[in-house]
Amino acid sequence: MENFMESGFLRSFVLKRESIPSFEIYPFNLPSVKTLNEITFHPHVTFLVGENGMGKSTLLEAIAVATGFNPEGGTFNFNFSTFDSHSTLDRYIKLIKGINKPKDGFFLRAETFYNLATNIEELDREPSGRRIIDSYGGTSLHQQSHGESFWATFTNRFGGNGLYILDEPEAALSPLRQMSMLSRIHDLVCQNSQFIIATHSPIIMAYPHSKIIELTKDGAKETTLEETNHYSLMKQFFEDKNRMLYHLLND
Ligand SMILES: Nc1ncnc2c1ncn2[C@@H]1O[C@H](COP(=O)(O)OP(=O)(O)O)[C@@H](O)[C@H]1O
Ligand SMILES: [Mg+2]
Repeated sequence: MENFMESGFLRSFVLKRESIPSFEIYPFNLPSVKTLNEITFHPHVTFLVGENGMGKSTLLEAIAVATGFNPEGGTFNFNFSTFDSHSTLDRYIKLIKGINKPKDGFFLRAETFYNLATNIEELDREPSGRRIIDSYGGTSLHQQSHGESFWATFTNRFGGNGLYILDEPEAALSPLRQMSMLSRIHDLVCQNSQFIIATHSPIIMAYPHSKIIELTKDGAKETTLEETNHYSLMKQFFEDKNRMLYHLLND
């Protein structure tokens, strides 16, 4: 692990609470934002977890936009925009950066991976030498399943020395691929990469060189895999499936 970075590209972010106009309007009214002061990132992997609607995507997007990514996702080079749906939160956070700058990067916004695929096809229609799709594995991302196209991007396009911001990467992946993802995350971490990942997958959260931040109605707090709801619910479900099903189907 000689290449492990001691400090990440992103060290932390501070919410500039004094400049926020009102905590009654979106996105400042989100419980996780209302009580937030600062989130310190792990130099390798930081997980954002929590129930649907807690604000994971909103926070991730603000971090990505403040870092210089297109709000709709992709590498640092993409600047297409099909619709402007991102919140203004990025203007109210101060990012504390490390000494080194990332040489590679990717922001995976689950909802807009489709637009990225379309954008690559459009750019490749222009005669400009090297095809972009070749660095994504060569096959049009539209001609593969959601899982296959994300996997092709993850294994071919992510090159190390990178900052990777991923929103629910497991959405498209089988449990086996989620486990393979742990190996690939580890390879990239050993090549000086930093990840910030919003996830519901206890498999992905199990990556050891990491920190888990749970967003709840009471704010953001650091936790462990075993303490997350995701882990304990899954465990309970499979340890006593019949009892869980009885309550779910009869109560
Ligand atoms: N443009 C918007 N205007 C108002 N509310 C929004 C907007 N976008 C998202 N929200 C609300 O903010 C909350 C948090 O959304 P999100 O960050 O996507 O949560 P998560 O990713 O944790 O499921 C949700 O309840 C959602 O309805
Ligand atoms: Mg989300």
